[in-house]
Parts: sequence; C-alpha cells; structure tokens
Amino acid sequence: MARRYHIVTFGCQMNRADSERMAGILEDLGWEATADEDQADLILYNTCTIRDNAEQKVYSYLGRQAKRKHQNPGLTLVVAGCVAQQEGERLLRRVPELDAVMGPQYANRLADILAQVEQGQQVVATEAIAIVEDITKPRRDSRVTAWVNVIYGCNEHCTYCVVPKVRGKEQSRQPEAIKQEIIGLAEQGYKEITLLGQNIDAYGRDLGTRPDGRYRVTLTDLLYFIHDVPGIERIRFVTSHPRYVTERLIQACAELPKVCEHFHIPFQSGDNEILRRMQRGYTRERYCQIIDKIRHYLPDAAISADAIVGFPGETEAQFEQTLDLVAQIGFDQVNTAAYSPRPGTPAATWPDQVPEEVKQDRLQRLNHLVAQVAAQRSQRYLGRVEEILIEGVNPKNATQGMGRTRTNRLTFVAGETQLGQVVPVQITEARAFSLTGVPVARQVG
Ligand code: SAH
Ligand code: SF4
Ligand code: F3S
Repeated sequence: MARRYHIVTFGCQMNRADSERMAGILEDLGWEATADEDQADLILYNTCTIRDNAEQKVYSYLGRQAKRKHQNPGLTLVVAGCVAQQEGERLLRRVPELDAVMGPQYANRLADILAQVEQGQQVVATEAIAIVEDITKPRRDSRVTAWVNVIYGCNEHCTYCVVPKVRGKEQSRQPEAIKQEIIGLAEQGYKEITLLGQNIDAYGRDLGTRPDGRYRVTLTDLLYFIHDVPGIERIRFVTSHPRYVTERLIQACAELPKVCEHFHIPFQSGDNEILRRMQRGYTRERYCQIIDKIRHYLPDAAISADAIVGFPGETEAQFEQTLDLVAQIGFDQVNTAAYSPRPGTPAATWPDQVPEEVKQDRLQRLNHLVAQVAAQRSQRYLGRVEEILIEGVNPKNATQGMGRTRTNRLTFVAGETQLGQVVPVQITEARAFSLTGVPVARQVG
C-alpha cells in the first residue's frame, strides 16, 4: 500500500502555492494524499508567523502529532514555511520528535530533504538559497484557478513585519519560465491564473537593467508577455505595494482584456505619522492618488486592502484616520488585524505598545465599518449582469454554483454548477462580501 501524506497549510497564498508544489513532489515520489491526519505516515505543517496567534496554532497542532509519534515511530513530521524559517534549530529543541524543519525557500527541494530524513537525519534547512525552478507539477486544489509564483521574498523594511526575515530577498522568476507554466496550465484546462508575490510590483527588479538604466522587465511587461496564452480567460495579481504601483501598470490593466478589474493594495494605516513609523514609504495622499488613477482608467474596479490597528504609539485620533480613509475610499474589502509584536522586528521593541483591549476595541470598530462600506459597494451589482467563472459548488447549497466576478466578489449562481464555465449572471441579492444571481442567456450580436 502506498504511503500516505497529509499537508496542513496556514497563512497566505504564498504558502498555499508552496503546499501545492510540495504535494506535487510527494506524489511524484509515490505518496498518496489522505484527508485524515491520523491516518497519515507523513504530516507536513506549512506554517505562518505573521502574527503571534498564527504561530501558536502550529504548536498546538504539533503537540498532538508529536505524541502520536511515540506510538508510531514510523510517522514522519515536517515543519515547513515561515515558523520553520524563524525558529530553525529552536523548533527541534522544542519538539524533538520533528524529522525536518525547512524554510520556504526549500519547498521545491522537499525530495532532497526527505531523502536525508530516510537516512535517519534530523534536518534543519533554513540557510538562504536560490529558489530552484519548479521541476515538479504541483498538485493543485482547484481545476479552474491556479496560483503562479512570479517573485519570492521581500526587500522592504516595514517595522512590524517578519516576512523579509522569513522569506528572504526578492527573487524573480524568468518571464519565459512563467509563461511556460501558464501554457501548461491552459493545456490542463485552467481558466484563471493569479500571479503571486509578497510585493508583486517589485517583479523584475532583480532581473537586470537595460543600457538606458530601465529595468529589463517589470510586472507591466510581464502582463503583456503572458496575456495571450490561449485558454486562459482571466489574469489576476497580488499583492501590490503602494510605492510601486505605476500609471503604466494601471493602463495595462485597462488595456488588457483578460486582466481583471481588481487591485489589492494594502494601506495599513490612514495616518501619515503611523505610516512613517511603519516605514511604508508613502503617504495617505500618495495612496489616494493611486486610487484616483485607478478610478480614472477603470471606474468600476474593486479595491481591497490590508490594515493594522493598534500599531505602537497609535492614538485614538490616528486610528480615526484609518476609519476615515476606509469611508473615503469605499473599499470593497479590507483584511484587518490587530498589531502583533513579532520577534526580530523593530516595532516589537518600542515602549509605546498599545494595550490589548484597546487594539481589540479598534479592530471591532474597524471591522464594523469595513462591513458597512463593503455592503454599500455590493449594492452597485444589483440588477447588473456579471460574468462569473464557476469555480465550485456552494458548500451550503449544492444546487448553486460558486464563482467570482471579475472584480473578485464571491457569487452564488442558481442552477449552474459546471466548473470552468464563464456564465453571464444577473445579480439578484447583494450582501457585504458576496452576491447571488441567476444565469441569463448570452446576448447575441
Ligand atoms: N506584502 C504585503 C502583505 C504581507 S503580510 C504588503 O506589504 O502589503 C499580510 C498582512 O499582514 C499585511 O498587509 C499586514 O496588514 C499584516 N501584518 C503583517 N505584519 C503584521 C503584524 N506584526 N501584526 C499585525 N498584522 C500584520
Ligand atoms: Fe511585510 Fe512590508 Fe514586505 Fe509587505 S512589504 S511583506 S508588509 S515587509
Ligand atoms: Fe504568513 Fe509567511 Fe505568508 S508569515 S502571511 S505564510 S509569507
């Protein structure tokens, strides 16, 4: 009987994409997936350390399986991802039952790591390395939409963030390799791709310059380069950093029909002093200019973002600037978080930490406003016909297909469950973060 593996994924899309590649490597090695952790011969935790609660979750999962290993010494336990990178050796000391601790840059090298484990070694792989080109076919969770990594790592210095430490320096993939992957996806029937990077608009900065000093290739160039792959109907990209969003990029989105009208551009705070202390490298005014530009070229585009409340030193008045910005912009969606001090980051050592109950109160108030604003934004879809790419079935109602608008609103579609179809859907119900509608006949002529 084939050996069985189980992967648990925490954190962002980067980790989800890495997990899909690691699953692909395991299947190439003859492993079979099992949905039941307790039946698995190998469990891999792909971890996140962006906030303390994300990190603690990993330890509670690990504790249970470490115990099981005492009954079943054949069980292989691997911790991959960002906690692995942050903790390294320390993780082995804390959980000696582990077989391997491997940072995100090693995802494509899982086979080598398992080979060492099979020789009886306990492996710690956290040295910075060049990420190898994907040699394996990822085992993807969806048959309709696929992640495509274009740049790994982050070169920014936001004072609250662990990502640069755990993901390392920016490494862009070559445009040709990216295009080949997308052609392969189209051949397998994928309809939508999402280009991935912590700082997607930094793409190409490490790929050299031309004689005139301009970068040889930018995200905008990449969009044009990959746009025409036949079979792919939608192209998305995340995450944009406000410092690097250019007018050229926005124009390209307006000009290229497959590129969807959705921008995810975290602003983090609406207050300039907090932005400065976060070392974000832009002001609120600059952020608003970008949004104005987007709305000039693409008036209906959806705008989503991330925001942090309770950053060290944040006063009530400064927090209210964040509320004010959310109302002013009219975001379609905002991922919010209470500031969490992270090991090795400057802001964690600052004396003016905001008390937990104040952070929680601000988080609730912000979430309330975000839901209100999102509900207003959703209203514009009522009665409209939107193109929905069917990605699955509504888990709560099997007669409804589930997909998204080009602007990324989750949409339930009555009676249409054929995966991979782009269906014109008349929107009949609008909630803050989702829509419901019925398919309509395609317009002829
Ligand atoms: N590269 C992206 C986001 C990466 S992390 C960017 O720069 O916008 C995803 C989100 O987690 C961040 O946008 C931020 O809102 C949040 N985050 C990061 N560090 C955090 C911390 N220490 N406490 C709370 N939220 C944090
Ligand atoms: Fe973290 Fe800032 Fe890099 Fe985003 S840009 S991953 S918030 S350091
Ligand atoms: Fe978490 Fe690592 Fe992503 S810390 S948010 S999984 S880059």
